[in-house]
Amino acid sequence: MAKPLMCPPALLSTDLAGKTYIVTGGNSGIGQVTVGQLAKQGAHIVLACRRPADGERAKAELVAQGIRGTISVAELDLANLASVRAFASSFLASHPTLHGLVNNAGVMNTPATKTRDGFETQFGTNHLGHFLLTELLLPVLQVSAPARIVNLSSCYHDKALGRDGVIDFDDLQFERRPYDGWAAYAQSKLANLLHAQELAARLDGTGVLAVSVHPGWVRTNLVKTFMPPWLQNTVLRPLLQWQGMIEPWQGTQTTLYALLSPDVALHNGAFFSQLGIYRDKAANKGGWPLRSPNPQVHDPAVATRLGQVSRQLVGLAA
Ligand SMILES: NC(=O)c1ccc[n+]([C@@H]2O[C@H](COP(=O)([O-])OP(=O)(O)OC[C@H]3O[C@@H](n4cnc5c(N)ncnc54)[C@H](OP(=O)(O)O)[C@@H]3O)[C@@H](O)[C@H]2O)c1
Repeated sequence: MAKPLMCPPALLSTDLAGKTYIVTGGNSGIGQVTVGQLAKQGAHIVLACRRPADGERAKAELVAQGIRGTISVAELDLANLASVRAFASSFLASHPTLHGLVNNAGVMNTPATKTRDGFETQFGTNHLGHFLLTELLLPVLQVSAPARIVNLSSCYHDKALGRDGVIDFDDLQFERRPYDGWAAYAQSKLANLLHAQELAARLDGTGVLAVSVHPGWVRTNLVKTFMPPWLQNTVLRPLLQWQGMIEPWQGTQTTLYALLSPDVALHNGAFFSQLGIYRDKAANKGGWPLRSPNPQVHDPAVATRLGQVSRQLVGLAA
């Protein structure tokens, strides 16, 4: 079995005092571990989550583990654009700098539901909520340069349990085709990857880098829409680990690498991948960066068009 890619220890002891980061979905899984590591390295992190009480619980757990930096919890519901706007204005009113935005939160294989603004839940939450958040925070990222944007994509941007990852511009919200939770997840994760590509092209020369990552198949609460996490974490755990599931600390390595490694500056817009399940078996071992097997990733017109459409959908001038 291949071993997960791990960050060089020196990267994880770099002093981050004076740096500010936002991690969406920081109350759980990969996001919580990301917040904890950045705080251990001395940074200030805004832990953004939809239920502040759960964020405070996550913060207390991290503080108990010992941190040098500071963590503040703030409410953000990515399935509600009014909440995204409120979060951004509150952040901008209280923080003069932002050195890293980790667009980490996500949902997977949800039932056919809509966000508050009427978007298909996975496209609306995973992509459009983060798209608007990023646009609203671009000015502060630019004044804080060098700064980075890291989007949590997935190997499922390529193929999710048999469904190809495709941006269907004629039916982004699954209104004309039958709803399929895995196809919708694949589309949303492809959107995360293309969003980073489009940002990298648009922000070239500003000192703000944007990349996307696949964290690996990680033991988190992401499965909760189709399996109780306790089942994954107990009875099934040995079997799933044998099949390739990794632990949250291992699954956070790619995010941390993308956020902190000097090497990333040479690969603006790239997709950084842990171990994964790809149709291209040569890509299974992952890579920092990795060439995605999905053909849409290699057509810059798709990323540009997605950016234009997303601006319109979230109510920003085209
Ligand atoms: N785990 C894997 O194997 C894997 C593989 C590939 C990619 N990823 C990606 O990794 C990222 C992190 O997921 P994870 O594995 O750490 O799963 P997780 O433990 O379920 O964390 C997901 C986070 O997203 C938050 N979230 C969901 N909907 C939200 C909303 N509307 N507004 C704000 N926050 C919301 C969740 O909040 P609540 O706690 O309130 O639900 C939670 O904090 C996701 O983008 C996922 O697609 C994970």
